Amino acid sequence: MKPLTTIPKHLAVVMDGNGRWAQKRFLPRVAGHKQGVEAVRNLIRVAGESGVTCLTVFAFSSENWKRPEEEVTFLMELFFKALREEVEKLHTNGVRFRAVGDTTALSSETQSLINEAQALTRGNSNLTLNVAVNYGGRWDIEQAVAKAAAAGRSAAFAEYLSFADQPDPDLFIRTGGERRISNFLLWQLAYTELYFTETLWPDFGEPDFKAALAWFAERERRFGKTGDQVRETTQKVSA
Ligand code: IPE
Ligand code: IPE
Ligand code: MG
Repeated sequence: MKPLTTIPKHLAVVMDGNGRWAQKRFLPRVAGHKQGVEAVRNLIRVAGESGVTCLTVFAFSSENWKRPEEEVTFLMELFFKALREEVEKLHTNGVRFRAVGDTTALSSETQSLINEAQALTRGNSNLTLNVAVNYGGRWDIEQAVAKAAAAGRSAAFAEYLSFADQPDPDLFIRTGGERRISNFLLWQLAYTELYFTETLWPDFGEPDFKAALAWFAERERRFGKTGDQVRETTQKVSA
């Protein structure tokens, strides 16, 4: 078995390909979003079991408002329903839920549900689940600049970002075949290992997750140092 240190602590996922999954089956795009929720549920379970302590999933980007109105409405309702139906189970499983993004643009019912879910699960420590909704990496940097300026920049800049209290992602996974960040965690991905797979999000299951973990375990993370320096420290640590 691989040593536990090679498991990413923080995993960030761009769940892409729902629309294409549905279109391949001659179904409306929204059928793919619905099926995508099953894949998220499954990922939360397998990630937790594997030792991931922080999972961030991209549910709706700042730019996704540009989609057809019916699709946006469907996605908002799907988020609301998933939250309403899953929170108790997340809480039972020791998951701390957080919504990350400009939630002020969401319906007041959704905002209330988010507040309740966050309050209920605040003390949980098995897994932190960040759901990025109406989130954009540029939005995050902009709001952090505004907060830092208002506070006279009394702390390090990163303290004003949405993920201030969490480690940077170790592994980034994007399904659906595109090799881009699409305004996800711009600041936090500085040293993240980037994994891309053709698998469409609704098809992403445990074997795909395990394949990504295996790929991650083979990476040598240097953070600007040389490979020799890194291996020397690793040898010292394991000696
Ligand atoms: C990702 O799937 C889900 C969201 C962006 C909400 P898409 O809906 O982008 O699926 P494709 O990329 O069109 O297949
Ligand atoms: C990224 O997917 C956003 C989410 C998965 C929520 P998109 O489908 O919106 O990304 P682009 O438009 O193809 O870059
Ligand atoms: Mg897409």
